[in-house]
Amino acid sequence: MEQRTLGPAPFTVSAVGLGCNNFGRAGTASESQAGTDAVIHAALDAGVTFFDTADLYGGEWGLSETLMGHALRGRRDEAVLATKFGFIDVATPLDDRGAKGSRAYLRAACEASLERLQTDRIDLFQQHQPDPATPIEETIGALAELIDEGKIRSYGVSQFTAEQLTAADAGATSVGAPGIASSQDELSLVARAVDADGRFAAAERIGAGFLPFFPLANGLFTGKFSRTEMPADSRIARQRPHIAQDADWDAMEAYQRLCDDWGVSMLEATLGWFLARRGVSSVIAGATRPEQVAQNAASAAWRPEPDQVTLIEALFPA
Ligand SMILES: NC(=O)c1ccc[n+]([C@@H]2O[C@H](COP(=O)([O-])OP(=O)(O)OC[C@H]3O[C@@H](n4cnc5c(N)ncnc54)[C@H](OP(=O)(O)O)[C@@H]3O)[C@@H](O)[C@H]2O)c1
Repeated sequence: MEQRTLGPAPFTVSAVGLGCNNFGRAGTASESQAGTDAVIHAALDAGVTFFDTADLYGGEWGLSETLMGHALRGRRDEAVLATKFGFIDVATPLDDRGAKGSRAYLRAACEASLERLQTDRIDLFQQHQPDPATPIEETIGALAELIDEGKIRSYGVSQFTAEQLTAADAGATSVGAPGIASSQDELSLVARAVDADGRFAAAERIGAGFLPFFPLANGLFTGKFSRTEMPADSRIARQRPHIAQDADWDAMEAYQRLCDDWGVSMLEATLGWFLARRGVSSVIAGATRPEQVAQNAASAAWRPEPDQVTLIEALFPA
C-alpha cells in the first residue's frame, strides 16, 4: 500500500484509509464489536493503516471510538488514528464546557477520545466543523498545547470554506502553532463542489493534505449498483435510496464503458482518480465488511493518465 504525506504531520498515511462512521451503526455488519474487529483487522492485514473516526460516530455518542479502541488492542502501533471533535449542531455530553471550538471544550473532548480509543495519543485531531463562536487562534492555540503535551501528534480541520482555511493558516502562524495537517471535506465524482469553489485548491495552498469524505458517494462507485438494481443490504438501499435513484445513469454507464475499455473496475478507476491528485493524502472509504476493505485496498494501484482524468471529469463536471 502506497504511503502519502499528510501536510506537515510527522507521519505518513495509507493511500486508502478507512472511514469509521459505520462502526456501531444499527443494521450494518459492523454494528457489533465482532463486526468492527473483523473490518479493522482486515484493514490492517491489507495495509490500510489510516483510520478516520469522530466522537459522534456510531449509534450513540462515542461508540465508534469505543469499538475501535477495543479492536485495536495489541495492534495500536500499526494504526494511524484520526478522530474529530466539535460538530456544531448536536448536543454533546461536554456542552457545559463552552463553545465547541473553545480551549476548555476541545481539551475535554481530547481526554474523552483518548479514553474511548484506549490510547495515549491521537495522531490527527480534527475540528469537525468551524465554530463561529470561537476565534480560530484560540482553537489552534489549544491544539498546539495538546501537541506539546504529546496528547495529539497533529491537527486538522473539516468543512472549512476556502476563506476559513486561509484564516486558519494565518491564525496558526500568529500563535506560533505547527501547520494544519489536513482539510477534510466532501469530494466524489458526483460531489465536486470543493473543486468549483476553491476549497480543494485552498487546502493545497496552505500545505494541508486533503481527505475526501463520502469518496465512493455512499457506495455508488463500488460498481454494485445499476440503473435497475440496488443490493438490499447496502446503506444506499437502507437509508439513502435517492442516491441511486437520482444518479445520472447515462453518465454512470458511460463511465463503466470507459473502465471496461481501460481494463479496470469502476472501484479501481475511482480510487485512481482521487490518487492521481497530489493534494489527496488518503481516500477514507467506509466499509461495513472485511471483504470490502480488502477489495478497496487491492483496487488502489491503478492511476489514470491526464487524458483519462479529462474523460472521467467530462462525465461528472464540477
Ligand atoms: N468530516 C465530515 O464531516 C464527514 C462527513 C461524512 C463522512 N466522513 C468520513 O468519511 C468516511 C467515508 O464516508 P462513508 O463511509 O460514509 O461513505 P463512502 O466511503 O462513500 O461509502 C462507503 C460505503 O460503501 C460501501 N462499500 C465500500 N467499499 C465497498 C466495496 N468494496 N464493495 C461494496 N460496497 C462497498 C459500504 O456500504 P454498504 O455495505 O452499506 O453498502 C461502505 O459503508 C466516513 O466513514 C467518515 O470517516 C466525514
